[in-house]
Amino acid sequence: MMKRIRHYCSLLLTNAVILSAVMMVFLSGCTSSAQTPVKEVKIAVLTYDEYDTFVNSITKHMTKWCRQKEKEEGVRITIDIVGAKKSQLTQNDQARKFITEKYDVLCVNLVDRTDASGIIDKAMANDVPIIFFNREPVEEDLARWNKLYYVGAIARQSGELQAKIITDALSDPDKYSEIDVNGNGTIQYVILEGEAGHQDTLVRTNVCTTTVVNSGYALEKLGDEYANWDRDQAKTKMLELADRYPFQIEMVIANNDDMALGALDALKECNYPLDPFVVGINGTEDALEAIRTMKLDGSVFNDAKGQGETIMEMAYAMGMNESFPATIEFAFDKYVFTPYNIITYDNVQQYLTDEN
Ligand code: GAL
Repeated sequence: MMKRIRHYCSLLLTNAVILSAVMMVFLSGCTSSAQTPVKEVKIAVLTYDEYDTFVNSITKHMTKWCRQKEKEEGVRITIDIVGAKKSQLTQNDQARKFITEKYDVLCVNLVDRTDASGIIDKAMANDVPIIFFNREPVEEDLARWNKLYYVGAIARQSGELQAKIITDALSDPDKYSEIDVNGNGTIQYVILEGEAGHQDTLVRTNVCTTTVVNSGYALEKLGDEYANWDRDQAKTKMLELADRYPFQIEMVIANNDDMALGALDALKECNYPLDPFVVGINGTEDALEAIRTMKLDGSVFNDAKGQGETIMEMAYAMGMNESFPATIEFAFDKYVFTPYNIITYDNVQQYLTDEN
């Protein structure tokens, strides 16, 4: 009897040993697969300011792209977006911190496009690639390393297309006499400019006005003011201009939509007696709505979605050590430019329905 009990116990023991061995194999199998690190790409996005409508629209598309890509690929993508409150020193500190925290790629919207060297030095020393965007660094800076890129659009093209909106209107005799209110054969205009030193400010301003003049139309500039891309600042500046030229302003050329909308705010507020022809650039949501309701005469579509997605495709590829998608077209191996397009009442519907 004792023998049988001992035999029974030893059987139980053997089974328990086998069972626990099986469990261990099973569990260790589970643990090892659970411990396989999920591939993670860490992307830092540094903007010059957190209140810029167009730049915020680019970053919105970046985040959206990452969430979608995560679902498709099962790769964890960390995207951290910080604004620099228009201070290059703050942005340099932010870049240093992300590099120390081992982010794979920096996407930088420089505060001062002539002052990229601080960030580039640190990135090169730590082998962290940089994709600059929207605010184009000077050529010599970008040439310093083969892991520096720029994604944006060609400023000259936006000036030419803004001019085309104007000349298309002026070429229609009825429209011309509507705009040239005093009938003197010259269009009196004011211009609202972005920031001094920004590639888009100088180029858009010069190219737009010279193209209109070269197309055979006489222009007379009454005033120009910087309004730093900002609707409120533009409103204030436009109120001053309206006060200075109470019956003369026939056209308002703005380097971007927020400033064009600020001009419209001012004209409405001061009950300006004329209804000037107003044009902007970007194709922001508010501008599209103002074009649809015929308050704004036109804008030039600046592809925030295309830029944001391209930047993320590049950042992701570099983070994964993959080559860039063949669909990305580079100029001089470093630059990617999205095309601009005209938006007027005639085609605004297409932009309102697109998800821009
Ligand atoms: C321009 C854009 C402006 C402003 C600026 C900021 O391309 O048209 O609205 O966002 O970039 O750098």
